[in-house]
Amino acid sequence: MAIPRDFINDLIARTDIVELIDRKVPLKKAGKNYSACCPFHSEKSPSFTVSRDKQFYHCFGCGAHGNAIDFVMEYDRLNFVDAIEELAGQLGLEVPREQGTGPRRDEGLARDLYQLMEEAARFYQTQLRQHADKQKVEDYLAFRGLSNEVIESFGIGFAPDGWDGLLGRYRQSQDAQDKLLTAGMLIENDGGKRYDRFRDRLMFPIRDRRGRVIGFGGRVLGDGTPKYLNSPETPIFHKGQELYGLYELKQKHRDPERVMIVEGYMDVVALAQYGIDFAVASLGTSTTAEQFQLLLRSAKEVICCYDGDRAGYEAAWRAMETALPLLKPGDSVKFMFLPQGEDPDSQVRKEGKEAFLERLSEAQPLADYLFDTLSLKYGTDKGTLAKQAIALIEKIKDPVLTSLLLESLAHKLGMNSSEDLKKKLGIGLQPAASQALTQKGLKGRGTPLRLAIALLVQRPELGFGLAAQPALAHIRMPGLGLLIELLQLTREASLSTAQLLEHYRETEHWSPLTKLAQWEHQIADDNAAQEFRKALIWLNNQYIEQRYQELSIKPDLTREEKLQLQKLIVVMKGIK
Ligand code: UTP
Ligand code: MN
Repeated sequence: MAIPRDFINDLIARTDIVELIDRKVPLKKAGKNYSACCPFHSEKSPSFTVSRDKQFYHCFGCGAHGNAIDFVMEYDRLNFVDAIEELAGQLGLEVPREQGTGPRRDEGLARDLYQLMEEAARFYQTQLRQHADKQKVEDYLAFRGLSNEVIESFGIGFAPDGWDGLLGRYRQSQDAQDKLLTAGMLIENDGGKRYDRFRDRLMFPIRDRRGRVIGFGGRVLGDGTPKYLNSPETPIFHKGQELYGLYELKQKHRDPERVMIVEGYMDVVALAQYGIDFAVASLGTSTTAEQFQLLLRSAKEVICCYDGDRAGYEAAWRAMETALPLLKPGDSVKFMFLPQGEDPDSQVRKEGKEAFLERLSEAQPLADYLFDTLSLKYGTDKGTLAKQAIALIEKIKDPVLTSLLLESLAHKLGMNSSEDLKKKLGIGLQPAASQALTQKGLKGRGTPLRLAIALLVQRPELGFGLAAQPALAHIRMPGLGLLIELLQLTREASLSTAQLLEHYRETEHWSPLTKLAQWEHQIADDNAAQEFRKALIWLNNQYIEQRYQELSIKPDLTREEKLQLQKLIVVMKGIK
């Protein structure tokens, strides 16, 4: 269920971003704004500023920026909905939900599911120590070399054999049984009979970022199949959006320097036992874009570690393709492969922490991995190599990064620049980002359209109560639709920058607009209104010129059109 936009708007209006941030990062007044050392990167002199007027923060050092919601998402590592919950909680408000499309999520139900999952995790942990079969379990744990400490910290447990180990505890409550079924802990057969999904398995609880148990991975104690059984998708468990071990990692490092993604639960646990406590794993599927986004948000450096076998190579390549569209300048994504037949668990046990860290330090940056792999595949066939590389580079959305990689590709192929590369291949390179507003409509620093949008985003009051601008709708100019929309939004309600931007979260305009919100256009506050008016006049004049052109070449003008043309000629004299 969606959160009503009005509520979000209200939330931003009632939260003061200066107070919000000041509670976590003490701010100092600096002129009109407030500043501090940036909480999102390490620095000695403050380049993090917070504007009370705009209700917006921005770091000149690392580029972090956003409104109150963004701050909570970034600082507390919460997703959007959880960040809203957090802000609402601070104001003592309940978050209303409106019926809408999208997955229905009953909050009451969800709460019970979390509780039942927590109880299940506890039950399995107790069974690990107390069940009649505990010797068998202890033998297996010893065989795998898991320490008591790591078993505790990851909450590893044991699901006993039998059909109703867990179910049996809820004989009295039909409601709890129904919910356990929803939570994926029970299976119902065709005859309607219910039984435990996880039987005779070592249980790895999977926690969300808040530490709530949302699912399990269960491993057989030996060689049975399937080796791992995972919780199915449930109202609280979405495999593609969570990472095993991320919560545990965050408990140790609030702001980790690096995070490593590995293939298995057992790898995460074994690495942690050896002091490499910054590994996470995806949940039995290939790494999704959401998971990558989460990784990139969690640390400056993301290391993707794969087994040195065919499956590992394939998984790495898929991961690279998933990561490309998400990359921004400054992101560091690296790849490493273990020796044939090893996984992180076996490797770290074999060679110890230091040697493993040494491998890590030699991980290949994504671009090197991409080029090297293609070179290996296509050898001396430079044409195919270049085409394949370009096809991948085109997946990148960020224009700066795209051109960096193209330059680097050209150099690797022995050419002077990407221009040469284009000529040689006879292709016109079109980075995907050229579609975006920044490139298309608002090219160049100071076009009046770009300025009008920037000023409006920075000072939405400029649009408040402004008369409608019907001519704008007739101008053919990329990006103009956005200005019209912004004018409409700001005309009707007195909004802050933060509230205005919030309308665009998760749209294609979000990133260019947040950039414009911080754009230093060198226009003094006192002149902003005047400059804004000038930009609007310029745009209206565009309409006049365009209409004049249209009418002046039109063969049979209606009476009205003739009149309009006469008027236009008069007006145009005034403009020129
Ligand atoms: P691996 O087979 O590499 O497991 O699967 P592993 O972590 O090395 O496990 P051990 O060392 O044999 O105990 C990697 C991951 O793939 C998923 C699990 O998430 C596992 O951690 N997987 C594997 C399954 O979901 N089901 C399976 O049957 C096997
Ligand atoms: Mn393994």
